[in-house]
Amino acid sequence: MKKILVITGGSKGIGRATIAQFMEQDYRVVNLSRSAPDIDGVVQITADMVNPGWADACAEPLAAELNAADNICVIHNAAVLKKDSVRDTSADSLQQVFQLNVIAALQLNQLVLPHMKGGSSIIYVGSTLSEKAVAGSCSYVTSKHALVGLMRATCQDLAGSGIHTACVCPGFTDTEMLREHLGHDPAILDAIAGGVTQGRLIQPQEIANTLWFAAQNAVINGAVLHANLGQIEH
Ligand SMILES: NC(=O)c1ccc[n+]([C@@H]2O[C@H](COP(=O)([O-])OP(=O)(O)OC[C@H]3O[C@@H](n4cnc5c(N)ncnc54)[C@H](OP(=O)(O)O)[C@@H]3O)[C@@H](O)[C@H]2O)c1
Repeated sequence: MKKILVITGGSKGIGRATIAQFMEQDYRVVNLSRSAPDIDGVVQITADMVNPGWADACAEPLAAELNAADNICVIHNAAVLKKDSVRDTSADSLQQVFQLNVIAALQLNQLVLPHMKGGSSIIYVGSTLSEKAVAGSCSYVTSKHALVGLMRATCQDLAGSGIHTACVCPGFTDTEMLREHLGHDPAILDAIAGGVTQGRLIQPQEIANTLWFAAQNAVINGAVLHANLGQIEH
């Protein structure tokens, strides 16, 4: 059986851990990002998905990899997290964030769907901020809410195809994205960990496990799965 994971943003963080998880289960992996992961055997299709033309450029190499696949799992993981607010987010900036965090997922679906058979899956990586907001992350919050809408539309539009979907929403996960966003400040990282019922950050492998679960279990079709160790509410 030819099983393929198509993932975006697998060069580091959650995406990289997810690639390792699927490779252990004998999936061939195709990764789309600007740089390649340091894992042998991954098929790298280099793409900057902020550029709307990326999909045309990648269509051919992607189709060549997906030919005759029995099972395909698509994981929409690449994203950008900016510090911005409802007062200062420009239309251009919001469009760029949407291009990577939402529109690229739609574009990739349209490239892969013609190759997908029943039993395949489309899994979106949302965020705790897919269903709530914090100050200072306007474009990210807005785009991650939109991603849940795209997942729900995927569920409805693919009814009868045997392809299932879900949105996995990580909480504070120890990756470059989180550390950069918090300015690499150990005190802030400690404070963040203290705001979680388990008193620690999530490891990327834990989100990879959840993504694996989502891909393997069609019963969750259409679901938003929070994976945040239980955040303390105030
Ligand atoms: N870490 C957290 O606390 C957290 C919490 C909630 C949700 N999430 C979500 O989890 C997912 C993964 O986040 P992470 O923390 O693992 O982030 P990360 O370590 O910063 O990784 C982000 C990935 O996205 C890729 N990427 C960024 N810009 C790109 C572009 N223009 N074109 C193509 N690929 C691009 C990066 O690859 P290149 O740089 O090589 O292009 C990288 O592989 C994201 O959807 C994020 O929103 C993370």
